[in-house]
Amino acid sequence: MTADAETIRYRAATGDTPAAVDLLDQTRIPAELERLVCESLPELHDAIVRLVVRGAPAIGIAAAYGVTLAPVDSSASPENVRRCYYDAIEYLATSRPTAVNLFWALDRMRGLVEASTDETIGDLPRRLIDEATAIHNEDRSMCRAMGKHGATLLGDCQTVLTHCNAGGLATAEYGTALSPIYYLHEKGHTLNVFADETRPLMQGSRLTAWELSQAGVPVTVCTDSMAGSLMQRGLIDAVIVGSDRIAENGDVANKIGTYPLAVLARYHDVPFYVVAPTNTFDLELESGDLIPIEQRSEDEMRYTLGADSNVHTKGRMAVPREASVINPAFDVTPAELVTAIVTEQGVIKQPTREKVQQHFAAIQTP
Ligand code: MRU
Repeated sequence: MTADAETIRYRAATGDTPAAVDLLDQTRIPAELERLVCESLPELHDAIVRLVVRGAPAIGIAAAYGVTLAPVDSSASPENVRRCYYDAIEYLATSRPTAVNLFWALDRMRGLVEASTDETIGDLPRRLIDEATAIHNEDRSMCRAMGKHGATLLGDCQTVLTHCNAGGLATAEYGTALSPIYYLHEKGHTLNVFADETRPLMQGSRLTAWELSQAGVPVTVCTDSMAGSLMQRGLIDAVIVGSDRIAENGDVANKIGTYPLAVLARYHDVPFYVVAPTNTFDLELESGDLIPIEQRSEDEMRYTLGADSNVHTKGRMAVPREASVINPAFDVTPAELVTAIVTEQGVIKQPTREKVQQHFAAIQTP
């Protein structure tokens, strides 16, 4: 991807120019490469809700930078300065409910506010920018590490199928599920990728197909309903997806349509891999039943995508008014259908609660 296609950039305040979170507008890809510059909390909140920036790690990074946009009055008391940042954190946390990376990143930012004293409050804005930048840079390294670990599972594959977009657009760069594909491509082993369209917002056909094509990886778009037939014909060597939240027992929440893929993969004896950084795990949730699932606007189902692929410009009516629609954005795949979870720390094969706990215990005591 070119610099123009960087998912997220931060613009520090200078003179009369306020700080801003500068986003590649993912509602417009592939028709246009446009950026949206958010200078206020409501603008950034709206950008997350509308999926201008989307994908679990990218939402966390954008929100972390977003905290620095809090309208702080530098002459206010330390207590009021802290309150302003806490309010910003609470507000950003209401943008989307499923990706735990959002809350993980906001918790890190909250930690700095809590740690500030009346003596150090003047340094807080600088520290918050540094923390958000660290979250951004750490995501880059984690994506590279996931690519390397994930590649060990795909060495014998020629063709993989992916769902939604878990690439550079969903992260700082490089991606989670797409990272092993990019890693292998750099090493001269180019996989063929089938990208599910991913209805209703078409992250697969619009975003995954776009970014893989930019990188020179051959990609074929298929409708979500074609996956079973492709597997039946022996055309898929592995399914590889990202995740928005993984429970302690290894149950995986990801874009709606992931669970049926896992069922199909099991039936056809195709390995089903999930690639996600450790900050996508929510160890406070015992199982996937407890993961909050975002319900999105009915209009995403009722109308086709609008002009220029802008998902929020209504296109043609696609459902008669008399019919009701449901639009859950995510589903949960039980751990028993997952062949392996890849994190930046390594691979958890056939994930269970015990194996997830061991994976994390090994990180804490290297
Ligand atoms: O609604 P979205 O586009 O934010 O959904 C994104 C996904 O489901 C991704 O697969 C997930 O966030 C992993 S991204 C590395």
